[in-house]
Amino acid sequence: MRTDTGQVFRLEDYRPSDYLIPETNLTFQLFPDATLVRAELLIERRSGVSEKTPLILDGDGLELKRLEIDGVVAQAGTFTADDERLTIARPPRGRRFRLTIDTVVAPSGNQALMGLYLSNGVYCTQCEAEGFRRITYFLDRPDILSVYTVRIEAPRALSRLLSNGNPGESGELAGDRHYAVWHDPHPKPSYLFALVAGDLGCIKDRFVTASGRSVELGLYVERGKENQASYAMDALRRSMKWDEEVFGLEYDLDVFNIVAVSDFNIGAMENKGLNIFNDKYVLAGEETATDADFANIEAIIAHEYFHNWTGNRITCRDWFQLCLKEGLTVYRDHEFSSDQRSRAVSRIAQVRTLRAHQFPEDQGPLAHPVRPRRYREINNFYTATVYEKGSEVARMIHTLIGADLFRRGMDLYFERHDGQAVTIEDFLKVFEDASDQDLSQFALWYHQAGTPNVAVTASYSPASQELTLEIEQSLAPTPSEARKRVMHIPLAFGLVGPDGRDMVHGAVSGASVENDVIHVRKRRQSVKFTGISERPVVSLNRGFSAPVTLTFEMRKEDRIFLARHDSDPYGRWQAFNGLLTEELMAAFRKLRGDRTPEFGDDLAAASHTIAMDERLEHAFRALALTLPGEADVAREIGTNIDPDAICLAREMLARSIATRNAEAFRTLYEGLRSDAPYSPDAASAGRRALRNTLLDYLALLPEGDRLAYGHFDAATNMTDRAAALTVLAHRHPGSDLADRALAAFEIRFRDDPLVMDKWFLIQASVPGHATADRVRALMQHPAFSISNPNRVRSLAGTFFSANQTGFHRPDGAGYSLFAETVLAVEQRNPQVAARLATALRSWRSLEPARQRKARETLLAIAATDKLSADLRDIVERTLA
Ligand code: TRP
Ligand code: ZN
Repeated sequence: MRTDTGQVFRLEDYRPSDYLIPETNLTFQLFPDATLVRAELLIERRSGVSEKTPLILDGDGLELKRLEIDGVVAQAGTFTADDERLTIARPPRGRRFRLTIDTVVAPSGNQALMGLYLSNGVYCTQCEAEGFRRITYFLDRPDILSVYTVRIEAPRALSRLLSNGNPGESGELAGDRHYAVWHDPHPKPSYLFALVAGDLGCIKDRFVTASGRSVELGLYVERGKENQASYAMDALRRSMKWDEEVFGLEYDLDVFNIVAVSDFNIGAMENKGLNIFNDKYVLAGEETATDADFANIEAIIAHEYFHNWTGNRITCRDWFQLCLKEGLTVYRDHEFSSDQRSRAVSRIAQVRTLRAHQFPEDQGPLAHPVRPRRYREINNFYTATVYEKGSEVARMIHTLIGADLFRRGMDLYFERHDGQAVTIEDFLKVFEDASDQDLSQFALWYHQAGTPNVAVTASYSPASQELTLEIEQSLAPTPSEARKRVMHIPLAFGLVGPDGRDMVHGAVSGASVENDVIHVRKRRQSVKFTGISERPVVSLNRGFSAPVTLTFEMRKEDRIFLARHDSDPYGRWQAFNGLLTEELMAAFRKLRGDRTPEFGDDLAAASHTIAMDERLEHAFRALALTLPGEADVAREIGTNIDPDAICLAREMLARSIATRNAEAFRTLYEGLRSDAPYSPDAASAGRRALRNTLLDYLALLPEGDRLAYGHFDAATNMTDRAAALTVLAHRHPGSDLADRALAAFEIRFRDDPLVMDKWFLIQASVPGHATADRVRALMQHPAFSISNPNRVRSLAGTFFSANQTGFHRPDGAGYSLFAETVLAVEQRNPQVAARLATALRSWRSLEPARQRKARETLLAIAATDKLSADLRDIVERTLA
């Protein structure tokens, strides 16, 4: 475990490397406890760099066996090698020289799952961000691009030997071993290196690119699971086609391979020509995967494939530029999903994710800019801010300059920077050049942390037929910047007339308004629209054009009107979701004041209208009828949070909506039953989503537990089965029927770890104080393993991050479990432990008693000695 050194990396300290590595030849002799890695590197001194400049290569926990410089064994005293680096004080005089470095690593003992490790008997690698230095000494930084040739030697029983690029020679060796050689002609940074050796099952396909290159596609999975790989293969083919059609980008090697492994720290990794996936995002069948799983697989397959251009062909100059590849690639996968499915529904789902994960990050102690300027541990910056907000920033560029110029800018990006390691400034420049616009104020979106607030008041004058919007932007200080500068916020809007149509307005003064977007560029501004014949209802931030919070006083009738009539479907969802949120906040306040909330008929009536509206997609109706989550409500309230009161308010509102719509919901629920064979397509998934959302309401009514149990029992696919089990376990915890369903599920799926993850997740998210003990007990379950990241995340991660009432139990039992678990996981896997520890990032918004206990917990972890760099960084920033 790499313990914390306290070292801080700063953007402004970037310097190009003195040495380059144009060629890298690697030979692996694979053995579980002692794998020999030979790295033959062609080193080149950068022109203008003095001959006396030492060569310092990065390492991490390596054991050096032998070093040759230009074919001669290096003598002791001419170099130093330790845990962290190999230093050659006086390299050879010539511009170019060769090093041969032999190191030994132990894949079997590697539980951090960075570098070379074994997962279920399969050798695999994870190098991003700094895992390559755990394999050999190298200039392990993304601006060192090298052409790799890799030779793998392994027992014949490991039938598949894979690496990046195109396959070369292969053959037999003595001792029942064999070898294979791979060559990747595209220069790449070390973080994109990958190797896999294992006895895997495989499905193959072929894709012919627009220009006629035939690409062999291979998808490798655990033997016996080949039939669960076809959806991922189909998603891959669709991704390849989409990138050609939408961005004009073709694949550039003869093969494209994907391998699914069961021990993986993250979702997936875009290694050149050899993507490695967490098997959770590959394997899917109707019996074992939910509609949401299918949608995630499609999105992540696309994401990793799209990295081939945005990330691999053009990569990052340094890790501060992470959003250059991640934000842009998330934007691309969002667009892909929107094109493959319903654009409106996809957009709402994207915004919900951003609000649930990125807003709390931005509003808490871990806030950082989309492009950070400092880090202690880069692994902790693969965040919702870099990914999701980064994607929104790319989307805003699209909004600002329009689709055609955006595409022209992207073309220019590939023309200008193919084969380079570049920065956010380079990225912005292509859009400035393509559009002839100045994006310098807009660039603040990359540099300032925090979620801007836009406060708007509207006044309409019938006499002058004018509508005036007073707009004020603000941005609270964050740990990264105490003082904030004024941003350029593109606010899409519509003025909705009494007939529900967008009104046409006359001249505008006060701010630039183009294509239904108000360009907010000052701290305060007022915009006047003329020629407005009747008072409009103003729909603001349509399509969530900017990732901001809005403060806009609106009459309840106007919100209900927008929920029914806004021509922007996102606007309709937003209006209704806002109503529900306000209702829950009001109920919370009542409960905190020991009063009983009462709910009027209007929301129940609006829910009825939405549920029954046959013009709306099923999936849209399901999303609209889903109450804001407990964490969403907590975020809106902001301070002095008592999760128990929020949970109760939410249940009371759900019960009131269910009671008032009992018959209608029941009839609709019955009508949505389908006997058609399962298909994961968006329309079928939407139908199931609406039916399962209705079940969640109906379960609150008398006999609701029986209805849910019947649904569970009759389910013919995992979507319905898991939804019904969730409803039973959450709405009727501890009931006989809930226990029966949990037991039946366990017996049926106990040998399928990915399905058992759902079983753990459902139980870990049961609201209420009893769950802490339940989670503790489940950690002893035979299907649980503290060394598998998926198991840890589904049980402990869910409990800490997605169970407000359970985790924040007033007596602190949830926090004790947190401290124990985080430290136990850290012993094996610091990266996963640090991720778990972010669950306490919003501790300051809790009510005082819980706040005190949360703080003590964090302080106790911080006081542990020899903490990993990963965990110490999170805990100290959370406390700061
Ligand atoms: N680059 C990967 C992706 O987005 C994810 C990733 C790689 C990652 N290394 C990481 C995420 C380290 C968190 C931490 O496709
Ligand atoms: Zn990515």
